[in-house]
Amino acid sequence: MKKGRVFSGARPTGRQHLGNYLGAIRNYVALQQDYDCVYCVVDLHALTTLRETHELRSNTYEMVLDWLAAGMDPSASIIFVQSQVPQVTELHTILSMVTPMGWLMRLPTFKEKVRQQPDNVNYGLLGYPVLMASDIALYKADTVPVGEDQLPHLEFAREVVRRFNAQFGPILIEPQAKLSEVPRVLGLDGVNKMSKSLNNHIELAASPEEIERRVMTMVTDPARRYRTDVGNPDICNVQTLHRLFSGSPERIEEIAHQCRHASIGCVAHKREFARDLANALAPFRERRAELERDPDKVWDILSDGARRAREIATKTIAEVREAVGLP
Ligand code: TRP
Repeated sequence: MKKGRVFSGARPTGRQHLGNYLGAIRNYVALQQDYDCVYCVVDLHALTTLRETHELRSNTYEMVLDWLAAGMDPSASIIFVQSQVPQVTELHTILSMVTPMGWLMRLPTFKEKVRQQPDNVNYGLLGYPVLMASDIALYKADTVPVGEDQLPHLEFAREVVRRFNAQFGPILIEPQAKLSEVPRVLGLDGVNKMSKSLNNHIELAASPEEIERRVMTMVTDPARRYRTDVGNPDICNVQTLHRLFSGSPERIEEIAHQCRHASIGCVAHKREFARDLANALAPFRERRAELERDPDKVWDILSDGARRAREIATKTIAEVREAVGLP
């Protein structure tokens, strides 16, 4: 028996990087053991911030390819594209009727987006959390793995579900957030969070040459300016990432010691990290290449996922319509 149903959504952002892996994908894979999981590419949510949409298809394809190669398993989980199960838009409309405008306008995530794109404050952006609540409620998920930043959205979803149920009867499930301890993954600059838009990332699918090239640009302890200076491995991002991708904790401790005594240089450490990272990602690259050999495979998996998702969605929508009294 599984513990319950997990739902999570991610915007289609194309090839995934180490930050995506450590922050979400690794957790998605692990949850499949204990939960009945539904994983969704939220393309409709992506439309709230995109003007150019021509990369949606390729970004979906590349992201799902990475998901599958990393061990998200379509025979255990439902993996699908949000817009391919249009019932979510119907639930979104219905839930919008029990959502006070004030709740939406107060959300920190909305305010931030208004600051980020003042010339594109569209209606969909305001309704973003209603659509997210609809994702979760439509599939009757009880558990939602989220990062800190999504907690206000999840609290909002719980409130909307409570309001709907209070008014129309106990149809929907109030979801629980499942916070997992996620390391804060910094980018190559050693300062900002790893992100594609800052181009400070390393892709999971990067070749060993590309990994080496990018690792060599990483910022280490800024106070260590010469090879003969001692370094502080506790604030070195190469050390932090190396620890996460090394098979040998002893070697990591040894490098930390050598760094403190200036008996290993940053360049040598980076070379070693690049090699270990390339090795750690080798099985991933092989599975990815294998999946890529059949270009239809990802789309077939997604259309089968949508079919299975639709079975759940159709039932929920029928219950919701009945409860609301729609003829
Ligand atoms: N809002 C989430 C994000 O930006 C994506 C998302 C959409 C989601 N629907 C969801 C996450 C449902 C969890 C559950 O990352």
